[in-house]
Amino acid sequence: MSIEEATVSDLIEMDKNYLDRIHLRRRIMKKHTDTVLAAEDSVKSAVDEFYCWLLGTFLPTRFPRMFVLQHTDNKEGFLYNLVTDERLSLSPAEKPLESLERMGGLVEDDFLFLLPSDDGDGYALKGFVTCFPNGFNTFKKLNLKLRDIHKPVPQYKEKLEKSMDRYFARLPTGKFVRRANWAISTTDALFTPSGNHLYEGEEIPQVEIDISSTRVRCERQMLHRLPQTRALLFSFKTLTYTLPEIKDEGLGKVLAEAIEGLKEGNAPEFHFYKRAAVWRESVKNFLTS
Ligand code: HEM
Repeated sequence: MSIEEATVSDLIEMDKNYLDRIHLRRRIMKKHTDTVLAAEDSVKSAVDEFYCWLLGTFLPTRFPRMFVLQHTDNKEGFLYNLVTDERLSLSPAEKPLESLERMGGLVEDDFLFLLPSDDGDGYALKGFVTCFPNGFNTFKKLNLKLRDIHKPVPQYKEKLEKSMDRYFARLPTGKFVRRANWAISTTDALFTPSGNHLYEGEEIPQVEIDISSTRVRCERQMLHRLPQTRALLFSFKTLTYTLPEIKDEGLGKVLAEAIEGLKEGNAPEFHFYKRAAVWRESVKNFLTS
């Protein structure tokens, strides 16, 4: 599963893109509400639990120069955001969808909440805010079990399904794990609910590659269990790099080798899934020139 242990402090990272990204996220949530936000009634207590902890404890403790707690005379609590000069109530909204929207416009990370599935067999997606989906429409994954969410992922069934189901069932509270992935995106858009993957039976499209808008797109993914509701929270922050940035860092050769490696290894189908046939030549030529 290529996961490693992390700590609670790793849950959210801040960088210089914060303000631009949260404004972009708010625009995406307005324009594409049905694709990026959803909540079943059953997820309310998990969303509320995380909301209270994120605003009331995590953010003001972890990033005290960005977020401070405020209380009015009648004891109502707020999180004051020093970057945006805004206040958010420490109490979650009546509807979980609204709490998700508030959190989606507060931090750059996307959040997916999983609860034991209705038939008791594995975990299912019950609520989310995902402004930056890399090639999937999260709404189409709502209520699906982990294994059905990953149906298009090569070798998932053969190589990952069993260990993932076991791992998700056993993950204790207090443990934080992380995983990173990488992809090449031929667009600089962050809201990409389609087009970044190829699925079985699909034809390889003929696309003119523009290197200036091509990005190395990575997700810094985290998984942990909420202590009270015991829901699982999968979250990820999307990071993008231009190809000149990769070259300037001296990583051009490493990336070119990783691209070649997609065809080899134990799941060569990833070459197709990641659309490598579309961008491989142009990207490799640029990286090695
Ligand atoms: C930590 C355990 C997990 C592992 C090891 C894992 C593994 C993977 C892999 C290998 C892929 C293919 C793309 C890539 O290289 O990343 C993928 C895609 C994906 N994963 Fe996961 N995943 C995990 C957890 C989750 C969870 C908890 C969710 C949602 C609740 C999720 C949702 C997705 C989605 C939506 C895709 C795209 C599928 C598509 O193309 O339609 N993953 N995952």
